[in-house]
Amino acid sequence: MTVSSPEDSSQKLIDQFGRAVDYIRLSITDRCDFRCQYCMGEDMTFLPRDEVLSLEECARLVRIFVRLGVRKVRITGGEPLVRKNAMWLFDEIGHLQGLDELVLTTNGSQLGELAQPLKAAGVKRINISIDSLKPERFRQITRTGRLEQVLAGLEASIHAGFEGIKINTVLMRGINDDEAVDLVRFAIDKHIDISFIEEMPLGEVNHNRNNTQVSNTDTLKLLQSKFVLTPSAETTGGPAKYWRVADTQTKIGFISPHSHNFCESCNRVRITCKGELYLCLGQEDKIELMPLLRAHPDDDTPIILAIQDSMRIKPKGHDFDLMRAQPAVVRFMSHTGG
Ligand code: 5AD
Ligand code: SF4
Repeated sequence: MTVSSPEDSSQKLIDQFGRAVDYIRLSITDRCDFRCQYCMGEDMTFLPRDEVLSLEECARLVRIFVRLGVRKVRITGGEPLVRKNAMWLFDEIGHLQGLDELVLTTNGSQLGELAQPLKAAGVKRINISIDSLKPERFRQITRTGRLEQVLAGLEASIHAGFEGIKINTVLMRGINDDEAVDLVRFAIDKHIDISFIEEMPLGEVNHNRNNTQVSNTDTLKLLQSKFVLTPSAETTGGPAKYWRVADTQTKIGFISPHSHNFCESCNRVRITCKGELYLCLGQEDKIELMPLLRAHPDDDTPIILAIQDSMRIKPKGHDFDLMRAQPAVVRFMSHTGG
């Protein structure tokens, strides 16, 4: 099989339910300079380097997926910007023909230095995780993070002029759930967006902790009592619902992974830093791309065939069940990519 132009529609990724996959989330490292309570344990063992995709392999995969019709690529981690030479990858893929949107999820710790180069490389939008605006509490949640450094990164990003900047917040009962309104005011003030992500039962870390989950339904009710919110029709094909805050430039997203109603419009797949292609965040269905990449350094065909074939096993929907004894998915977010 030869690969023709990126516009060749026969190459497009369509699953057995007719959903077109045009969005990939690629984790480029499992490492992070933070140890957020809901994401990692205090002592983490990270993967040895040869079990992680090289940046060249990451770039190769992105090129292949773009040829297969992918229009949007999100780089995640771990913390993608702590990977050595991460900028090389952004420079390499940022201006690929056919790629409409290169976006990034980051904890913001490196943005003071990297916001400008990322913008220059072609990154359109960034999501920055901020769970608290109180330095002490921020430190407690992230264990190692410095709020001041992240806020400086945010300012550098605003200055760099990205098309969109969004704060990602995980509210936890008794920990930071009193900050929802302050965080929205902060976002309004900065002319940026904010999303509230419901805490997900990922990894043993969550399993062993008390239940701190806050429902987005409650958060929405609270925010509606303080702000005039109008629902927005906007969708990214994912588990987010958006509301506009009247008379501001701010949108509020609610990412509720426990609701099932977005699966039918799901347009995405995830690739871990080990090169595992996961077809659904809440399911174990995956294929291993790393062995193929390494066995065929000069021929993309086997990789293309495997990716096309994977569309057969993309599940209809996910299966998070909070009542189960075990977390539904035992992978860490830093492994799968947030
Ligand atoms: N539940 C919800 N969100 C999580 N993230 C990481 N782990 C979890 C979890 N267990 C989110 C972070 C960050 C992104 C990288 O993933 O809040 O915004
Ligand atoms: Fe790092 Fe993000 Fe996980 Fe926090 S949530 S430990 S910043 S990867």
